[in-house]
Amino acid sequence: MIYKYTSGQPIDTGAMVMEFEAEPVAAFPLPHTTEDGRFCFRFTMEPDDIVYGLGEAPRGINKRGWVYESYCSDDPFHTETKQSLYAAHNFIMLSGSKMFGVFADFPARIRWDIGYTKTDEAVVTLDGTDFDLYMITGDTPMDIVRQFREAIGKSYVPPLWAFGYQQSRWSYHNAEAVDSVIDGYNNAQIPLDCVYLDIDYMERYKDFTISEAAFPDFKNYVQDKRRQGIHLIPIIDAGVKKEDGYRVYEEGKQKGYFCKTADGSDFEAGVWPGICSFPDFLRPEVRQWFGSQYQYLLDMGIDGFWNDMNEPALFYSVKGIEEALDKAAALKGQNLDLGRFFNLKDTFMGLSNRQEDYASIYHQIDGKLVNHQKVHNLYGAGMTKAAGDYFAEHCGEGEILMFSRASTIGAHRTAGIWFGDNHSWWSHILLNLKMLPSANMCGFLYCGADLGGFNENATRDLVLRFLALGVFTPLMRNHSALGTRDQECYRFENTQDFKDIVEVRYRLIPYLYSTFKRASEQNDLIFRPLSFDYPDDSVARECETQLMLGDECMIAPVYEQNVQGRTVYLPEDMTFVKLSGTRVQTQTLEKGVHYVKIALNEVPLFLKKGKKIPLTNSALRTRDLDWDNVTFIGDDV
Ligand code: GLC
Repeated sequence: MIYKYTSGQPIDTGAMVMEFEAEPVAAFPLPHTTEDGRFCFRFTMEPDDIVYGLGEAPRGINKRGWVYESYCSDDPFHTETKQSLYAAHNFIMLSGSKMFGVFADFPARIRWDIGYTKTDEAVVTLDGTDFDLYMITGDTPMDIVRQFREAIGKSYVPPLWAFGYQQSRWSYHNAEAVDSVIDGYNNAQIPLDCVYLDIDYMERYKDFTISEAAFPDFKNYVQDKRRQGIHLIPIIDAGVKKEDGYRVYEEGKQKGYFCKTADGSDFEAGVWPGICSFPDFLRPEVRQWFGSQYQYLLDMGIDGFWNDMNEPALFYSVKGIEEALDKAAALKGQNLDLGRFFNLKDTFMGLSNRQEDYASIYHQIDGKLVNHQKVHNLYGAGMTKAAGDYFAEHCGEGEILMFSRASTIGAHRTAGIWFGDNHSWWSHILLNLKMLPSANMCGFLYCGADLGGFNENATRDLVLRFLALGVFTPLMRNHSALGTRDQECYRFENTQDFKDIVEVRYRLIPYLYSTFKRASEQNDLIFRPLSFDYPDDSVARECETQLMLGDECMIAPVYEQNVQGRTVYLPEDMTFVKLSGTRVQTQTLEKGVHYVKIALNEVPLFLKKGKKIPLTNSALRTRDLDWDNVTFIGDDV
């Protein structure tokens, strides 16, 4: 059952598609208080209880023992000391002595203290008093998730080719660079469906422009790539460059479509192109206008986009940088002692994403000015909705690939997400794994991390192990940052190992795609914690390095360097399958702990008893996959 409790005058976040009769918040069944304009509720946790949820967030599948914040944040250091990443996914669920889920339909900051201050107590604080709270009761975690997912509506399904392997880098600067990536993959005979265009395809980082120097005949170029079965996916940033004569800026300015400051002037801040204005995505007419801008690229044959910097990321505000420069000028020529040096350093280091800058932004909602901090978590979702609504109206359903960096629940109906600027760290393989079931619970099915890691230099073995997990993630994209070591598959020695891994993905696409479609249609999870399937198994309940996938499989990637395998826990007898290129090796293993050997070119998979899954032959593009020609692996085959 789902129960709704309303306080004040909530802003419509668009998260829910089902309507519920509301009761006043006083009837909310968990202990709660309102103090200093903040609403706070709490619940106690028994030692064995598990708290799930929060979607894209730091730390484990079980969220206990830390404090999290729902506040979409542009932060490229995803360490375990962080409290938020790019998303605000306000759903949690207690499983154990009691069983319930809570969804806080509230677009401002929320603090989730899940046993951080007091080990056995969760304290959730909403930074305001206008909200809807939903209490979801059920018999099992899956039952609660299904009801919640039904209430928030069906998850976005991308085109089939978006399940192919995708290669990205900041940046393939021009047509020659893109061609050499495609050649690299073709020569190594490694499958590939998409190549990404990061910010340098634009003319000086201006949205909805193409650099003539980099791509002299973009339309023909895009179409030529499409004939080769390659989709080019350009990035779109939230900030619109402030520049006289730049059509998008001029139009937005003239129509009054940009976010404002208290004095009614446009809010301006620096991002990639320098000073930008920020479309007020909370206004329907602005969304309509911004969405229609994508047509420029659709007309060129583009059929996929990634929306970025939409927390929104602010490198500096005009006011902030001026103050910092004044401070630096005043200190010029002085002997800087400890206090003054670090104060100056902190001033510059603290310029980006400043709370006071966010607090100076105003949106228009139903004709009223609303401070950004009250609706912060809706901004990125608004940008995604702008694009998604336009595509829904003007392109066929499921024709356009779209995913975003910032997100909130509701945006899962329009787009996927990627987990932002991770690192080429071994620990980030596990972080990627742990976010998958949590993101699924919140409706985000099409998701994945930058495989190989975005920041810092990747090693060959890290990329291979990351890819072996990525074989199962709906978005399978290798992406890396400017200035880091090249990490396309063909850059490393013995490309056959990479081919062996990526081919497994293509062999599994019929299975993965149908599992995905079913999960969207039936409000199901693609990835589940083991505890969902084996609630009475104490080892399974604690497992955070393996996941259930679909109804048939369990996955357990290798996540450490210099190892030839890993320890895996089987909650029941299973078939251990090693997939590598065209090779399939199977072995029946009994319930319990096993050390299994997994070579760098192998993808491990565990099949439940009595289950089987289809494999097709690999192909260089998804369009060339032969869906009629499948063999099955698993029991009774
Ligand atoms: C942001 C994105 C990253 C992209 C970069 C340049 O950091 O998260 O994926 O490569 O901007 O556009």
